[in-house]
Amino acid sequence: MRHSAPGSLFFRNAEQVLTLAGLPVPRRGKALSQLGIIPQGGVLTQGTTVLEVGQSRALEAKARRLKAEAIDCRGSVVMPGFVDSHTHLVFAASRVGDYEERLRGKTYEEIARAGGGIRLSARKVRQASISSLARQGEGFLKQFAAHGTTTLEVKTGYGLDVAQELKLLEVIRRLSKTSKLELVPTLLAAHALPAEYAGRPAAYIETIILELIPVAGRKKLAEFIDCFCDRGAFSVELCRRVLRAGERQGLIPRLHAEQLSHTGASRLAVEFEAASADHLDKLSTADIRALARSDVVATLLPGANFHLGLSAYPPARKLIEAGAIVALATDFNPGTSPTLNMQFILSVACSALRMNPAEAISAATINAAFALRRANRLGSLEPGKQADVIMMDVSDYREIPYYFGVNHCRMTVKAGAVVSCQ
Ligand code: NIG
Ligand code: FE
Repeated sequence: MRHSAPGSLFFRNAEQVLTLAGLPVPRRGKALSQLGIIPQGGVLTQGTTVLEVGQSRALEAKARRLKAEAIDCRGSVVMPGFVDSHTHLVFAASRVGDYEERLRGKTYEEIARAGGGIRLSARKVRQASISSLARQGEGFLKQFAAHGTTTLEVKTGYGLDVAQELKLLEVIRRLSKTSKLELVPTLLAAHALPAEYAGRPAAYIETIILELIPVAGRKKLAEFIDCFCDRGAFSVELCRRVLRAGERQGLIPRLHAEQLSHTGASRLAVEFEAASADHLDKLSTADIRALARSDVVATLLPGANFHLGLSAYPPARKLIEAGAIVALATDFNPGTSPTLNMQFILSVACSALRMNPAEAISAATINAAFALRRANRLGSLEPGKQADVIMMDVSDYREIPYYFGVNHCRMTVKAGAVVSCQ
């Protein structure tokens, strides 16, 4: 929600300002490590945008003229807010029962086949009201803000029928109005096969295409269309139909791809010039090459591997070395990745995926902004861009992933207004 127009802020004397400034193109290969660091830096905002970024001393006079509110950033790192380009924010209840069963030895797919997993979340959503779903979402959004996330994608996917998916889109619409963060809605009706359609996946897909996608498109309830293209979920051919139908309604494709098995989903993402292909655990060498040649953002979600207790992680190094556009996101959801903390994702990306801290930060800001088709406005601190700024209580950006499991964020500013301060 936008209140009165924000004034001017002066982030002053930061140990490091990470500008992420550069050409307006996604970061690949070595460019991923370039954070555009200004030591003893400052950021001056005016209204909703960044006015100037530079040596703190050089901004003093202008800040005074503007009567900017000065924020003392000594001992801190100032950087763009995190862009979390993959979340399943709206669900009714945790799945701690599934969690415990997995800890006793059952796999994610076994639990799903037995009626747990996504279908359990769908049963819970069916019983929940729009206002109770929104209330829970609002609580999570406060935490996202407190951890430095300023923009997040939000998927449906626990409705699994036309009315329930529309209900989830309505929850997202309400949250966009009440939250100070920016929410990007994605329709993920093809997430799991509802029990009523057992053995008839094509019939479910047909229903979505005829009755849901046109409504979501016409009413502009979603911006992106996503499918869970995997073993136990939907085939490449059915997902192709969904993406095509989405495109006809102006929805931009993105995909859950190659998470549990290799299906060819990442090639489908390339075929559609999708905004992103997400997970990518089971990529082949040829897939990596195809992604690297494309503009599809390879979005890695290592929170899921961590929470599922897997020993294998997506091939970040191979993707970076091949020249793919790599992004990182939480995948916040009750089944595989119940974390909303992008800082923790950076720690896993470094320690388990062997990304370096600079690569991880680019992947969680500017490249994620590309994945949401918002890089012209978000993801870096440059004059004219939106003033989405966070202040982190570390004096060297590498300490963000290094001191893992704690919240370093002291202040979160969205579009020039303070939305969280701790
Ligand atoms: O991204 N892979 C599919 N969807 C989610 C998991 C959803 C759930 O288990 O509730 C994911 O990991
Ligand atoms: Fe997901």
